[in-house]
Amino acid sequence: MSNPFRAGDFLRKKEARDKITFLTAYDYSIAKLVDEAGIDCILVGDSLGMVMLGYENTLQVTMEDMLHHTKAVSRGAKSAFIVADMPFMSYHITPEEAVRNAGRFVQEAGAHCVKLEGGREMTDTIRAILRAKIPVIGHLGLTPQSVNVFGGFKVQGRSEDQAKTLLEDAILLQEAGVLAIVLECVPAKLATLISEKLTIPTIGIGAGNGCDGQVLVIQDMLGMFTDFTPKFAKRYEDLQEKITGAVRQYITEVKSQEFPAAEHTFSIADDVLNKLY
Ligand code: KIV
Repeated sequence: MSNPFRAGDFLRKKEARDKITFLTAYDYSIAKLVDEAGIDCILVGDSLGMVMLGYENTLQVTMEDMLHHTKAVSRGAKSAFIVADMPFMSYHITPEEAVRNAGRFVQEAGAHCVKLEGGREMTDTIRAILRAKIPVIGHLGLTPQSVNVFGGFKVQGRSEDQAKTLLEDAILLQEAGVLAIVLECVPAKLATLISEKLTIPTIGIGAGNGCDGQVLVIQDMLGMFTDFTPKFAKRYEDLQEKITGAVRQYITEVKSQEFPAAEHTFSIADDVLNKLY
């Protein structure tokens, strides 16, 4: 087992200019594979609402959904740093409720850290969670829980006002004490500038390679989510083809009785069986 990646490694890696690798995972088997491949961090993203549960966006994801999947991931991952996404409405009402919910991810589900979306309006909540000794990662740019405010999944930070607000928010989150900031769908040059101005790492998704690390949704990078592929997602595999091909072959073999073959079958002694005739 490689050295586990833990909170102190975020700064160490930024200072060493060593990119931080992040992928999402939502279940035991994938978490185990991703962990064994040597990923630094696993994000149990609320993107699970779309790629695992089939919702149109992340707004219907509940604390119970997130806890269920985070528990499975933490049973599978031994070395990776496990980050649990706080779902919509689990941290918006009061900082007290946010601390209680963040605590459940650590105490009940084995997460090392929580992630939440938002800028300056979230700094009191972030400070409250940090007082409970729970590390927090921020998330700026296209924050999917604000989809109804943005009017869709759109690149953020192109106008002067938006770009200035993004940079200010990043600095305010850093001052509040977050470990790192996810920058989602932000112009690459702006993300590079923000990364240079911060002492904490940025983790990009659709934000170019000037960030200090990268994150992708595993279904996107393995080609398993077929509803749409975001422009920023590189497909490293086409499992959709492989899975549907394997399923078609299974159907054919069951019908032709090629499967199950002798090696998949359990035997019984003829004299035992003969007594039943
Ligand atoms: O929910 C998620 O997977 C995320 C990533 C897209 C950063 O927040």
